[in-house]
Amino acid sequence: MENNLPIENSPSMSRRQLLNFLTGSVIAVTATGALYPAVKFFIPPSDVGEDGSILAKDVHGNLIPIAQILAEPAGTRALVAGLGGEPTYLTVTEDGTLHSWGILDNCTHLGCTFPWNSNEAQFQCPCHGSRYDAEGRVLRGPAPLPLKLAHVNIEGDYIRLSPWLDNDPRTGEKPWWV
Ligand code: FES
Repeated sequence: MENNLPIENSPSMSRRQLLNFLTGSVIAVTATGALYPAVKFFIPPSDVGEDGSILAKDVHGNLIPIAQILAEPAGTRALVAGLGGEPTYLTVTEDGTLHSWGILDNCTHLGCTFPWNSNEAQFQCPCHGSRYDAEGRVLRGPAPLPLKLAHVNIEGDYIRLSPWLDNDPRTGEKPWWV
């Protein structure tokens, strides 16, 4: 003969389950509250801002720590994935900081990407021979326009790139891309 009551019919077991559930919930809430600051410390800031800005990433989509870029020598042009996924050059300045603008690696002739030639201090497009100075001004066509810029700001351990909507500092005028 079966003497045991089914668990769901046992009032004492139900109370125990309820107590266990409540105790577990209190512990979970307390632990979450205590761990939140520590967890938040290790989570990078949101990579997409309301202003359309993004955090710079490498070719694999990983956030790039600012320390990684600043470990490079002055004058380095570091290529990162920028706004809209467009490759963007960041410049390490002589005083070991980041230049406040990034230069988009997108030729204004027909959109080729191009390398930085450190010997000649120029961006040189391999497609049709356009050349730009270190700040993205056209030195030689057929490129018709200076290179697009993006704002560069340091945010915690990372680099935030935002759309450049102000006057172009190279011309003092409204940028052609706005
Ligand atoms: S795309 Fe760069 S020169 Fe033509």
